[in-house]
Amino acid sequence: MVPLTGALTLEATEDGSFTFFSEDFGEWFHSRGGAFTEAHTTYVTATGLAALAQAPSLTILDVCYGLGYNSAAALATVNRVNAHCQVYLVGLELDARVPQQAASQPLITIWPPSVQQVLRQLADEGRCQTSSLSASLFIGDARQTVQGLVRNGFQADVIFFDPFSPPHCPELWTVEFIQQVAHCLKAEGRLATYSCAAAVRAAFRQVGLSIGPSVATGRRWPGTLAQWHTQGLAPLSQQEQEHLLTRAAVPYRDPELRDAAALIRQRRQQDQADSALIPTAHWRKRWLHPISTSKLS
Ligand SMILES: C[S@@+](CC[C@H](N)C(=O)[O-])C[C@H]1O[C@@H](n2cnc3c(N)ncnc32)[C@H](O)[C@@H]1O
Repeated sequence: MVPLTGALTLEATEDGSFTFFSEDFGEWFHSRGGAFTEAHTTYVTATGLAALAQAPSLTILDVCYGLGYNSAAALATVNRVNAHCQVYLVGLELDARVPQQAASQPLITIWPPSVQQVLRQLADEGRCQTSSLSASLFIGDARQTVQGLVRNGFQADVIFFDPFSPPHCPELWTVEFIQQVAHCLKAEGRLATYSCAAAVRAAFRQVGLSIGPSVATGRRWPGTLAQWHTQGLAPLSQQEQEHLLTRAAVPYRDPELRDAAALIRQRRQQDQADSALIPTAHWRKRWLHPISTSKLS
């Protein structure tokens, strides 16, 4: 990976919580509709975490930990609904500056004090152990760190899958990376992401996961819930199903899990050109005209 050196600029979102803009990836870390709201709605509510936390233990994998908001929303929820639940949390993040800068500024004060303490300790030490929590933050390219989890047989009840968007960070939306992440999902586990891109949904299906739409606050389109079985999944709409029949559904590939973003984008363009699927323009004309669809392709 090219070392990350670009600035992380503080930005307010519409619910009053703060996020960063990444100069390296050219994108906001959260929906501008609300960073706090997104963590709760798109990840915690979508996975039904409050109900899962009624169990004696809960294992969470936070792919693209960033400022730690999704983990924080999960911990705050567990503390509220069942403080006796034993939580095992693993975060994967490339850029150590992100959790560190978040924890050293007042922006994490949106979380309860005990959760702020966890975020600070994870940012500083990469580990946090309390009587009810065992948490680790692994810094590095998630394409590599996830393989360590797979080798150790790590299994999560809940996976938060929150990379930058596919056009900006294609390396974390490939079939091969999603396959590794899927190895970490329990048979009854649930994975949530904000993306409904056809390439992403096709990749989930290619690795054998079932998919359904989820409510993603602050965005114009739904998110995606992925799991091994179909139970509890809402059906995809006609529009969403037809999207998966177009070239937008050609997934990103990264056979050795180490290619640069530009090569992964280029490979997909070639695969799309070679694909027998119908051009996405037909679908766009039928369903979306004149809405901008760049995030959906
Ligand atoms: C959309 S942000 C995640 C926001 C985060 N979930 C939060 O609540 O703050 C995407 C994150 O992915 C991280 N990232 C980018 N490339 C990565 C890679 N190859 N491996 C691991 N993390 C990566 C970025 O540094 C950034 O923190």
